[in-house]
Amino acid sequence: MTIQENFPLKNYNTFGVNVSAKYFAEVSSVEELVEILKNDNTSTLPLLFLGGGSNILFTKDFDGLVIQLHLKGISEEILDENHVLVKAKAGENWHKFVQFCLTKNYGGLENLSLIPGNVGTSPMQNIGAYGTEIKDTFVSCKVLNLENLEVEVFDKEKCRFGYRDSIFKQEGKGKYVILEVAFKLTSKNHTVRTDYGAIKSELEKLSIANPTIQEVSKAVINIRQSKLPDPKVIGNAGSFFKNPTIPLEQFLKVQKKFPEMPNYPNGNWVKVPAGWLIEQCGWKGKQIGNVASHELQALVIVNKTGNASGKEIYEFSTMIIDSVKDKFGIELEREVNII
Ligand code: EPU
Repeated sequence: MTIQENFPLKNYNTFGVNVSAKYFAEVSSVEELVEILKNDNTSTLPLLFLGGGSNILFTKDFDGLVIQLHLKGISEEILDENHVLVKAKAGENWHKFVQFCLTKNYGGLENLSLIPGNVGTSPMQNIGAYGTEIKDTFVSCKVLNLENLEVEVFDKEKCRFGYRDSIFKQEGKGKYVILEVAFKLTSKNHTVRTDYGAIKSELEKLSIANPTIQEVSKAVINIRQSKLPDPKVIGNAGSFFKNPTIPLEQFLKVQKKFPEMPNYPNGNWVKVPAGWLIEQCGWKGKQIGNVASHELQALVIVNKTGNASGKEIYEFSTMIIDSVKDKFGIELEREVNII
């Protein structure tokens, strides 16, 4: 393992922002990771652990050590005649892992097809799409505690999953490195989740009445490809903001003024789609300098020319937050990690 200096990160963040790390190292085992963390020359530096770089915005060079987790490997264990425990190391690419499970006919992750990033970062924001979140199949994850360099196991309860949220974004932030994640998947008698409107209509379009898990995955891939930009082609980090959840009382007031506002009530709270709010403020497809809101999904900010700086993207997101606040009185929260 070598530590490189002034290392360019453009290919290590899906926004394609051109920043550099003062030091950079790639580790392919837990032993290597521990070794580097114990190293006298590096142990005092600010640290940043990088997975697929798909949920991060660098607004400046990183004046510390970036560690790319290249931990690979998938293992399976039969639990009972209907279930299997599948464990994947943090550095496995998420979509490839989902496809591996589908090839084996393991069900539960198909709705999460084509989400960018690595397995190791999936519990951080409890990745979710089309009616499924990883917490639905998550069993546990192995982590390295950065204070004592011991390996610990976090079960589902300990992870405190919420909407795009977990302990790793709250009080556990910066304290643990996720090394491996275990999922309980079905090996037969799969439950397919097709109630999300877009999946239903995509399956109808494909004339599929009783879809297999592989067909659900295909439908999800089609939907994502039809409106979400491919980071390999145009830099982005998926949804830039969370969908805000506002008190019912506040919603009823705003709804009087904007009766057509889509909404998902849940008890005394209502979730409203940020993409709709942003579009209503005229941002969909709008470009300023090198940055734009995606023309097919306003919630996604793109590095339109490929030359955007992180600061420019951040300022663009601030303009969006300000105009949504002005028009609707609703505060958008960034979902992407800002460095
Ligand atoms: N909408 C608009 N204009 C837009 C975008 C959306 O009016 O430009 C409206 C849609 O018409 C619909 C509603 O907003 O009524 C919801 O849109 P959509 O189903 O596309 O989902 P979303 O809420 O925008 C969320 C996730 C996505 C995930 C999809 C599908 C968040 C922050 N985003 O988006 O996740 O793929 O649902 O489940 O929860 C990601 O996290 O990177 C991501 C892409």
